[in-house]
Order: sequence, then C-alpha cells, then structure tokens
Amino acid sequence: MDVEQKKILIKKLNEKINNCKKCPLHLTRTNAVPGEYNVDAKIMFIGEAPGRNEDLQGKPFVGAAGKKLDEGLKKINLERKEVFITSILKCRPPNNRNPKIEEIKSCSPYLEEQIKIIDPKIIVLMGNFALKYFFDYNISQIHGKIIEKTYLGKKRLFYPIFHPAAIIYNQKLKETFYKDFEKLKEYI
Ligand code: URA
Repeated sequence: MDVEQKKILIKKLNEKINNCKKCPLHLTRTNAVPGEYNVDAKIMFIGEAPGRNEDLQGKPFVGAAGKKLDEGLKKINLERKEVFITSILKCRPPNNRNPKIEEIKSCSPYLEEQIKIIDPKIIVLMGNFALKYFFDYNISQIHGKIIEKTYLGKKRLFYPIFHPAAIIYNQKLKETFYKDFEKLKEYI
C-alpha cells in the first residue's frame, strides 16, 4: 500500500475513533487520542492509555512520559515524525486508573487496524499493558529482547521496553530504559 492510501485509511480510522462510543470512556474524555506522526513508519510505539495532557490535546505522549520517550528516540537518532506512536486505549481512563479488560476488548480493533494499515516492521511495546495484549510475559523478564511472531498474517518483530512513565522516579529503570533503546538501534 502506498503512503497516500495509508493517509486516507488512517484519516477515516481516526474519525471513527474520535466519534467512538463503544465503551463508557467516551463519557469522560475531552478528546480521543488515536495516535500520531508517520503513517508509513517502520517502527510503531504502543503505550497504555492517554493521560491528562494527552486527553486535553488529543495527541499521544505529550506529558512527562512523552519527554522520556523523546529522549529514548534521540538515542536511536529518530524523531517523532519518523515513527508512529499510539496506545492500547485511545481514551483516558478517569484519574489514570488501569485499563479494564472490557475497555481493551472494545478498543483493540482500532489498534489492529492501525497495525494493518501502517504495517510496521518493529512494534515497540511500552509497559505491561501493551506487552500483555500480545504476549503472556512480564515486562521485567522480557524487556530489551526481540520477539518474532506472526501477527495479522505477517511475521513481525516485537520489542518490549519499560513504560516511560515508570522510569520517571526510578534511576535504575531509567538506565535500563535507555540501554534498551540502544539495543533497539541494532534492529533498525
Ligand atoms: N501514557 C500512555 O501510555 N499513552 C499516552 O498517550 C500517554 C501516556
């Protein structure tokens, strides 16, 4: 699929997400946060769910966690405009509580559509919620390791890392987080 086709399909999908009323999170959101940047990206980053700033702006990772993600991207010489960033849930859970299973179930078809359209080579799973949607592993055992899996009809590479929000007050995790980005460089 060429870039122009991808842009059209993502735009249509974004409209669906922005008008979605499939779960009660639509009642408390300011904006849905479908995901942003390059629809032709080779790398897709998947987080957990929008937080307060993301809900206000309708853009992914624009708060404190986003700054950490940007620093990680810098380590691998990438900018936001070269990647696609989204989350498992497209709407903010009230008070940033954990996503509920029913919310993940109703929202995940949007993520699957995004993966089909964008067709990234590497999918970076940030934190346990993103990881556990795809695999039955724990982030502390599998971060920084490439997992190959046929998903939606294609062989894809998955790369789990800690969620950038988890490293904000944890120096040790911070080092691990950036080391995992360095290792990612070898695969791109
Ligand atoms: N954390 C996430 O998982 N996603 C966002 O968009 C922002 C913070």
